[in-house]
Amino acid sequence: MDLHLALDPRRKAASLEEALRAAVTDGRLAPGTRLPPTRTLAHDLGLARNSVAEVYARLVGEGRLEARVGSGTWVRDIPTPVPGARIDRSTRFDLDLRGGLPDASGFARSAWSRAVARSLAEAPGTSFAYGALEGTVELRTALAGYLARTRGVVAGSDDLVVTHGFGELLSTVARALAATGRRRIAVEAYGHASHREVLAAAGLEPVPVELDRDGMVVDRLETAGVDAVLVTPAHQFPTGVPLSAPRRSALGDWARANGAIVIEDDYDGEFRFDGRAIGAFQSLAPEHTVYGGTASKALAPGLGIGWGVVPAGLRDAVLEQRRLSGAATDAISQLALAAFIGAGDYDRAVRGARLRYRARRELLERLVAERLPDARIAGLEAGLHCLLELPPGIAEAEVVREAADLGLRYGGLASYAADGATAESRPPTMVVGYGAPPEHRFEHAIAAVIASIEAARTALGPRG
Ligand SMILES: Cc1ncc(COP(=O)(O)O)c(C=O)c1O
Repeated sequence: MDLHLALDPRRKAASLEEALRAAVTDGRLAPGTRLPPTRTLAHDLGLARNSVAEVYARLVGEGRLEARVGSGTWVRDIPTPVPGARIDRSTRFDLDLRGGLPDASGFARSAWSRAVARSLAEAPGTSFAYGALEGTVELRTALAGYLARTRGVVAGSDDLVVTHGFGELLSTVARALAATGRRRIAVEAYGHASHREVLAAAGLEPVPVELDRDGMVVDRLETAGVDAVLVTPAHQFPTGVPLSAPRRSALGDWARANGAIVIEDDYDGEFRFDGRAIGAFQSLAPEHTVYGGTASKALAPGLGIGWGVVPAGLRDAVLEQRRLSGAATDAISQLALAAFIGAGDYDRAVRGARLRYRARRELLERLVAERLPDARIAGLEAGLHCLLELPPGIAEAEVVREAADLGLRYGGLASYAADGATAESRPPTMVVGYGAPPEHRFEHAIAAVIASIEAARTALGPRG
């Protein structure tokens, strides 16, 4: 649990008490939050365990905390302050709400450590030698089953390549495309600037293609003069729409007719909240699609594991680029992930994260409806981010500035636009990533988003 307590090193116990009291009072530590065990907090802060226990006991005495027999110390259910009500201009939030970031503090530590222990105990000695460029057969087999079952991906273990996340897959595939004579790659008009940079660094020219409410306007590919395309079909990043069924089939037809490669970024395909999950695009054109996925959202970016399903025609070129860059994925994490998937823990992690993110999305929608009735939340009920269309008259740049003053990092749609993307008539819109804050700071994070927009409105003056 991430408490963000600023302690005075000369009077740690007293300042711990003050900081906890303030955090409970102003709602940063929400009612129903479980505090870290005294032993853990004492260790983290360099205090004696008794001192922490005494601080907890005093706050229990004041009615702020509650000691539950056998289950630790919790923040008591006292009424929550109205989010945003206590936010003044001197509050610093120190929160990153950019699109795409997951809550790394929710990482399933115990299940992961069991999987590591089990795989270390059971793996044959050969597992720890130099491994295959494509990754261990155990993980490739587990992933092939998982992806077929959950995303409808058509792949055997030989089609899989394990990487250090989607980012490394993209970089490797881009270099493989360049090495096999491809020069231009279509990208969605809005997306991660870093992905476009990865493509350019590999020697490919990113060519922006416009988006509408059905996703990428696939017809444009006919005249774009491109050999490949990078798309987010399940949940366009960041505009939040799925690629429509007619567009999917047109994309498959285009790839077949032109011998082109589609790189499918399925970064959050498992996180659809409305029960209408659609499968991956890959099954429509497996010979022409590199399907990419990542463990960054369901587990944590810090694991650094992702995967690609690579068509046979590109496989050697991709493995050659892995060899040239010296990119080997560590065997222990791969074996652990295979065991983790095999034990059903990955499914559990996905389900747990889906429930948490869905609850966050609902709370965000409710608070925005209550406090900013002239703003609008858009984007599929899925994933870890949404769009917030600003109330009339408020500019993205103004909100970004106010947010920065509050210590809040998030951007407007403009910050995701590709250079040279044709100007589209979109209302000023913020991209709100609701994944990253730890659970106990989530309401606070949304209050901060609302405060940044209210501050931008105030800066407009009385007519704004
Ligand atoms: C659109 C998109 N693609 C892919 C990724 C995953 O990247 P990685 O596996 O490198 O963490 C992210 C994570 O932020 C993302 O937002």
